[in-house]
Amino acid sequence: MQFRFTEEHEMIRQAARDFAQTVLLPGVIERDEKQELPQELVHEMAKLGFLGLMVSPEYGGAGMDTVSYVLLMEELSKVDASASVLVSVQNSLVNWGIETYGTEEQKRKYLPRLAKGELIGAFCLSEPEAGSDATRQRTTAVRKGDRYILNGTKNWITNAGRAGIYLVIAQTDPAQGSRGISAFIVEREWPGVVVGKKENKLGIRGSDTHTMIFNDVEVPVENRIGEEGFGFKFAMKTLDGGRIGIAAQALGIASGAYELALRYSTQRQAFGVPIGKHQAIAFKLARMATEIEAARLLCLRAAYAKDRGLPYGLAASLAKLYASRTAMWVTTEAVQIHGGYGYVKEYHVERLFRDAKITEIYEGTSEVQRIVISRAIQKGEPALLLA
Ligand code: CAA
Repeated sequence: MQFRFTEEHEMIRQAARDFAQTVLLPGVIERDEKQELPQELVHEMAKLGFLGLMVSPEYGGAGMDTVSYVLLMEELSKVDASASVLVSVQNSLVNWGIETYGTEEQKRKYLPRLAKGELIGAFCLSEPEAGSDATRQRTTAVRKGDRYILNGTKNWITNAGRAGIYLVIAQTDPAQGSRGISAFIVEREWPGVVVGKKENKLGIRGSDTHTMIFNDVEVPVENRIGEEGFGFKFAMKTLDGGRIGIAAQALGIASGAYELALRYSTQRQAFGVPIGKHQAIAFKLARMATEIEAARLLCLRAAYAKDRGLPYGLAASLAKLYASRTAMWVTTEAVQIHGGYGYVKEYHVERLFRDAKITEIYEGTSEVQRIVISRAIQKGEPALLLA
C-alpha cells in the first residue's frame, strides 16, 4: 500500500489552495451576508478547469481522477463552501451522471459546455414529500409520442438560479414503484420551467438554492437518461459519487476551522502563555487533528475505490457520515477556542460552523448514510474495500 500523491494530485491541490486563499477568501464574509456568489468567481473556477475536472478530455474536461476531486473540494471548502458545493454538484452529479449514463448525442451536446463552465447544471431529486424517502416521487413524466410531459415541484435545488440544465427525476409509471422512475435532461429555456423561491439559509448562503416548478414541460424522448425505469438507480448511483464530494467538503470545512483555531491558539495569550499551551486547548487541537486525518483517509479511500472501478457506495457513505460529523464537531470546538471572537463574523469560524451543518443533511442525511451502511454490512460487503 502506498500513501503517496502523484505530481498531478499535488498540482491540483496547490492550484485549488492558491485560488481559495487569493481569490475566494477576500469577500467571503460579504458574499455570505449578501447570499451571493458572483458570476465572475464561477468564471474564474471554470478557467482553472474546476467545473469539468473529471470529464474526459474527449468532451472538453480535464480528465482528472476522483482523488484530485477530493483534494480540490477540500481546499475550496476550507474557505468557501458555497463555491465548493457548486463545483461538487456540477462534477459529481451533473457531469458524471451524463458522461456515465448519457447517450453519445447527450454527451456531445451538453458535456463540452458543462466542462468549460459555460453551462451550469442542477440535480432535481428532492420534493416537498420526497426527501430521504426518495422513491416517493410526485413529479410525473407522461409519455406522449416522442415527448414526455413533465409536471411537478422540486425542493432544495442547488445551483437552480444559475443553471442552464436540470437533471430531473420523475415518475413515468407509478405502479412500478422505484422501477417506474426515470431521469431527464431539461433545459431552462423550455416553456413551463420555472425557477421558484430562493431559500434564505443558515449556511452555504452564497450558494443559490431554489424550489423548481415544472408545468407541462415538453421533454423530447432523446433527453431521457438511460431506459425508462432507470431513474431511481441513476439517482442512487450518481449520489454514491456525490457523497464523496460532500464528504470532502465536510473535510475542508473541518480543516479550515482547525487551521484557524491552531493559528489563534498560538497568538492569543491567557494566564501569561499562548492559549495553545494550556492543556484544555492543546487536547482539543490534538483530537481535532486526529478526527480530521481519519476523515481525510476515509474520503481518499472512497475516491481511490471509485478510481479503480471497485464498489464504492459503502466507502462513500462511511466517508460522508464520518466527515460531516467531524465538520460539525471541529467547527464547534473552533468557535469555543476563539471564545467571543469565534462568535463574530471577522474570524470566519462562525461561518464554517454554520456551513458544516448542511453536510449532515444534503446528498443524504446522516440517517440515510446509516441506512446505506447498515444494509451494506449486513449483506456482507467487505468493510476494507481495498482488500
Ligand atoms: N446503487 C444502485 N442501485 C441502488 C442503490 C445504489 N446506491 N441504492 C438503491 N438502489 C436500487 C436498489 O437495488 C433497488 O433496486 P431493485 O428494485 O432492482 O431491487 C432500488 O434502487 C430501490 O432501492 P431501496 O429499496 O434500497 O430503496 P429505499 O426506498 O429503501 O431507499 C435510500 C434507499 C438509501 C434511503 C434512498 O432513498 C436514499 O438514498 N435517500 C436519500 C436521497 C438523497 O440522498 N437525496 C439527496 C438529494 S440530492 C442533493 O442534495 C443534491 C444537492 O443539491 C446538493
